[in-house]
Amino acid sequence: MISGFGQLLFALFGPLSISRSALFGIFLTVLLNNSYTVLALKSPFLPRHGGSLGSTAKDSVIKYKTLYFDQKIDHFGFHQDGTFKQRYLVNDEHWYKDGGPILFYTGNEGDITWFCNNTGFMWDVAEELKAMLVFAEHRYYGESLPFGKDSYRDPKHLNYLSSEQALADFAVLIKYLKRTVSGCQFSPVIAIGGSYGGMLSAWMRMKYPNVVVGALSASAPIWQFPDMVPCGDFYKIVTQDFTRSGLNCAANIRQSWKSIDNISVTEEGLRWLSSQFTLCSPLKKTDVSDFKAWLQETWVNLAMVDYPYEANFLQPLPRWPVQVVCTFLRFDPKTVSDHLMLVGISDAVRVYYNYTGNVPCLNLSSTATGSLGYIGWYYQACTEMVMPMCTDGVQDMFEPQEWNFQAFSDECLALFGVRPRADWANTVYGGLDIASHSNIVFSNGGLDPWSGGGVTRNISDSVVAIVIPDGAHHLDLRYNNEYDPQSVLSARAQEVEYFKLWIQQAKRKG
Ligand SMILES: *[C@@H]1O[C@H](CO)[C@@H](O)[C@H](O)[C@H]1NC(C)=O
Ligand SMILES: *[C@@H]1O[C@H](CO)[C@@H](O)[C@H](O)[C@H]1NC(C)=O
Ligand SMILES: *[C@@H]1O[C@H](CO)[C@@H](O)[C@H](O)[C@H]1NC(C)=O
Ligand SMILES: *[C@@H]1O[C@H](CO)[C@@H](O)[C@H](O)[C@H]1NC(C)=O
Ligand SMILES: *[C@@H]1O[C@H](CO)[C@@H](O)[C@H](O)[C@H]1NC(C)=O
Repeated sequence: MISGFGQLLFALFGPLSISRSALFGIFLTVLLNNSYTVLALKSPFLPRHGGSLGSTAKDSVIKYKTLYFDQKIDHFGFHQDGTFKQRYLVNDEHWYKDGGPILFYTGNEGDITWFCNNTGFMWDVAEELKAMLVFAEHRYYGESLPFGKDSYRDPKHLNYLSSEQALADFAVLIKYLKRTVSGCQFSPVIAIGGSYGGMLSAWMRMKYPNVVVGALSASAPIWQFPDMVPCGDFYKIVTQDFTRSGLNCAANIRQSWKSIDNISVTEEGLRWLSSQFTLCSPLKKTDVSDFKAWLQETWVNLAMVDYPYEANFLQPLPRWPVQVVCTFLRFDPKTVSDHLMLVGISDAVRVYYNYTGNVPCLNLSSTATGSLGYIGWYYQACTEMVMPMCTDGVQDMFEPQEWNFQAFSDECLALFGVRPRADWANTVYGGLDIASHSNIVFSNGGLDPWSGGGVTRNISDSVVAIVIPDGAHHLDLRYNNEYDPQSVLSARAQEVEYFKLWIQQAKRKG
């Protein structure tokens, strides 16, 4: 999901992401001409990134068939009877063609090939389980656009973008595969997803237990909704990562905001900042809050992808990137000058943006992802995925910002012509009360800020939590790697054991 809340919607979006994503029509204009003060348009998966294949498995070749299914635009009403092409990817090279299981990735907010490339775990276990792999694209993202290039044009066209419609798409697609692919009829289907896709995989099992026998829900903040977890947990976890990754690291970042204020009061200070950060375009007085939001987003993204090995998930990064960042922020915050502080900060952000060494300048507006659909996620956040976030500057290292639902709602209205329904997620997906479900594994990494909204305690014998203390954002879904900590190896082994159990149960029943 998008990590860049910041103070300004603008900064989350980055003016950039918009132009890059397949955004059409009126919203572009609206977005570019306004600055917003909203906190909650954060998406669990959409940090700004430039990366593509996040795998470090050197010789993993991903091969799949790309297929399209005629999917109903509206599963819940009968007036709109049109269809669209939903994209899905299939690999059956290891599949036992007479009832072998199907591992079904419930696609999140972006191009499905990107999730397919970044879910090495499924590729690693396909052979052992003799499983078919299916990656289904979420409507309104990638190529699965219900109204083609008009899909984002106005609230009327966006009206069919919801998690409920997406889940129904997955259920209908699975039914179709079972009906039409020879050997599939008795194949037990396991839903798998990470981040928002993990929320969908868990909800898939809750809503369609007749269609999937179980679900692995990785780094899925299904409790990041109003009144379920404290709004400050997310940024608290980000801060903890920096605190444990180097002496004074979080304390210096906490103090750096004031240093920016101090320096940016003069024209000369602004010029110095622009040059010290090698910014592509000079900083103006009015850009200072965007600049801070950009830094804030950078720290958040680093926490999310604090992987134990060199990886290119969001950006090419060294192993344990937060530790590397913290080597530049060791000074004593009590005595450091504002200038030295910001020299350290500028070196630290270069770890994120210039690890490859071929970035000529830092672009406050070009860090967005190409594969993920920002605008679609903002619309979802502005309707049913209301995820409160806040900071207090004490328990976290950021400038204080309260959660203000009314302001958020007003800006959603301005942006999309809709108002969010704060309580709907709780009503439709059960909130904290999920004990009556079965066969769901929630996995979370201790380093992942999204674990704050995740299920990290066992709910019952068959709704279980696996915690990976050294894991960042769904580390368990990535390819095996020689630097993987023991905790993720045993998490993956446990997950496979649950898969086998669910498959056994299904066979006994069938
Ligand atoms: C996924 O990997 C395939 C090749 O394995 C590549 O062609 C494709 O561009 C990748 N997709 C993304 C979004 O990175
Ligand atoms: C900012 O300026 C004030 C007033 O000159 C000074 O007391 C303070 O130490 C400076 N830096 C920070 C980080 O507050
Ligand atoms: C990126 O790294 C290269 C090589 O060290 C350096 O020449 C370049 O100035 C750096 N760019 C930025 C924006 O820091
Ligand atoms: C910064 O990023 C924006 C959006 O991607 C792009 O239009 C602009 O050309 C970039 N500026 C530079 C100097 O690279
Ligand atoms: C939940 O139960 C499983 C199985 O007993 C156990 O392995 C796991 O550690 C428990 N999870 C937590 C968070 O206590």
